[in-house]
Amino acid sequence: MSAFDLDGNVAIVTGGAGGIGGATARLLLERGAQIVIADIAEEKAQALARELDSEGSQVAALRFDLSDEASIQSMIAAAVQRFGRIDILVNNAALLSGEIQQVDRDVETMPTWAWDAVYTANCRGTMIMTREAIPHLCKTRGVIVNVVSSLAFQGHFMQLAYTTSKAALIQLTRSVAASHSRRGVRCNAVAPGMTLTPIVEAHFPLDMRKVLEDETLRDQLGRPEEIAEVICFLASDAARNITGEIVAADSGFTSHFPAMSRLAAVVGAPG
Ligand SMILES: NC(=O)c1ccc[n+]([C@@H]2O[C@H](COP(=O)([O-])OP(=O)(O)OC[C@H]3O[C@@H](n4cnc5c(N)ncnc54)[C@H](O)[C@@H]3O)[C@@H](O)[C@H]2O)c1
Repeated sequence: MSAFDLDGNVAIVTGGAGGIGGATARLLLERGAQIVIADIAEEKAQALARELDSEGSQVAALRFDLSDEASIQSMIAAAVQRFGRIDILVNNAALLSGEIQQVDRDVETMPTWAWDAVYTANCRGTMIMTREAIPHLCKTRGVIVNVVSSLAFQGHFMQLAYTTSKAALIQLTRSVAASHSRRGVRCNAVAPGMTLTPIVEAHFPLDMRKVLEDETLRDQLGRPEEIAEVICFLASDAARNITGEIVAADSGFTSHFPAMSRLAAVVGAPG
């Protein structure tokens, strides 16, 4: 057995019916874990569970709403009842609805209802998920992986609520690591850059995609499977010396100074 294997582990993936969450559920299963696909999109979650595990012995689909405390509590209780333990919590779900994205721009125009909705799901919900799961994780000496965003590292003229909520989750990651690593629970985060999930592939305009690709260091955007690889690594014993860290998985988007590609063009340098 390698340190990357997850045999015998039980993992909850919130937003597990989506692009990054679905790829993560698939890879966790391949590495040997039993999976709870926890999502508000009940039918999508059930369809993925059937696709991954037609017998239903390794994968369960559970509906829950990250914005609803009671719903989080009953989902966790149902997961423990089903598989008996929790070893891995992937806090991946986030409020990404089109309605919110249309109004989540800068501070001058921010509707209070949109701010509250994003913070209720992303910050309050992820804190409650973590609080409710942590007694179970303490018993198993388990792991938390939060999915944040590389947009939380830099200022942007839009997505104020989304990016600041993800920045709060970076601090949640470090604080939970500080309070619980000595009790056996590691807590880390992955910060994806723009990742070509099915929704991004379908709706993100190609010309805007090209602008972002040109600012990466490997000249391509990430794939959900690549984020899943980082999550599974952080969840595994291979990452036992890592806690309280934020791992950017963004094709190098945030690792260099912003004007680099334009400057390279001016001086005729590669890149
Ligand atoms: N795709 C990207 O470019 C990108 C970049 C950086 C960070 N991220 C982060 O990655 C994570 C996954 O995003 P994705 O791109 O796979 O999006 P996605 O829309 O494919 O997946 C999100 C999932 O969360 C679920 N969800 C939404 N609201 C919920 C709620 N209230 N309760 C429970 N489940 C809920 C959705 O049903 C969906 O299945 C998010 O945290 C997102 O912020 C994505």
